[in-house]
Amino acid sequence: MTVVKTRSGDIPKLGLGTWQLSGDHCRDTVVRAIDVGYRHIDTAAMYGNEEAVGEGLKAAAADRDEIFVTTKVWHDRIADGDLQRSAEESLDKLGLESVDLLLIHWPNPAIPLEESIAALCDAKARGLARSIGVSNFSSTLIDQAVDLATEPIVCDQVEYHPYLTQRTVLATCRRHSMALTAYCPIAKGRVLDDPVIGRIAARHNVTPTQVTLAWLLAQDSVVAIPKTGSPERLVENHAAQSIFLTSEELVEIAALGSPQGRMVDFDFSPTWDSE
Ligand SMILES: NC(=O)c1ccc[n+]([C@@H]2O[C@H](COP(=O)([O-])OP(=O)(O)OC[C@H]3O[C@@H](n4cnc5c(N)ncnc54)[C@H](OP(=O)(O)O)[C@@H]3O)[C@@H](O)[C@H]2O)c1
Repeated sequence: MTVVKTRSGDIPKLGLGTWQLSGDHCRDTVVRAIDVGYRHIDTAAMYGNEEAVGEGLKAAAADRDEIFVTTKVWHDRIADGDLQRSAEESLDKLGLESVDLLLIHWPNPAIPLEESIAALCDAKARGLARSIGVSNFSSTLIDQAVDLATEPIVCDQVEYHPYLTQRTVLATCRRHSMALTAYCPIAKGRVLDDPVIGRIAARHNVTPTQVTLAWLLAQDSVVAIPKTGSPERLVENHAAQSIFLTSEELVEIAALGSPQGRMVDFDFSPTWDSE
């Protein structure tokens, strides 16, 4: 399993997204994923599935230190004290002593960034997380967070797929030796019907999803966390790690992107990079 090296440890480049997985299906999917070879599981307090993810981790045939576990603090809980309590509640639900990566899920302009970043660093200093990061931060917010932090900020988890360019955020992450973790990496399935990706997939005798994941995994500093609840698609997505595209194919897929290709946007989103 390839990794992105950061200032506080390695992050496996392929992870399992768990948003919208719940209950026994979520537990069983985590067990299967680890059996297939996934070594990175992504959850969040907001997903309401941390107990099920924790049960999966416990039932899986791998030691705790072999699996990289990420969780996130929802943006209404990132004040000092509340952030640390949210992290402790997540650990209780997951049944873990610490997570590998604790993220601020979204920025919140109603709470000073200085306070949230200090609380996040405190969570790491207290041992609740081995490393810390952010999610849905623009390049400006990343720079501010890194300036304020007393511990390394190692990741920004943002939407990234062939239809959404993230040149500025990616360059900012690389400048700070951070990983960019791509959420919605297969654009929630939109890539399945793409003629350009389909043509490349046919040439390699693989699927459009595998081509898309191979494109992300080929990029320095990029981690991808596709979600699936299907045993077959767990195997399919995992196998994307052994697919290698030509530099022409990588460029062709990148050309599908634009700053307008965003699928996840809320009234509380920050001002995104215009590229
Ligand atoms: N930080 C944030 O704000 C944020 C926001 C959104 C998501 N995330 C994280 O990122 C993860 C991934 O994002 P996402 O779930 O929104 O989108 P995604 O991974 O791009 O797409 C998931 C969808 O694609 C389907 N799928 C997966 N593999 C497939 C395959 N090989 N062939 C055909 N269909 C396939 C899944 O259905 P099946 O399950 O039926 O296979 C599901 O409907 C989430 O689970 C979550 O962990 C984070």
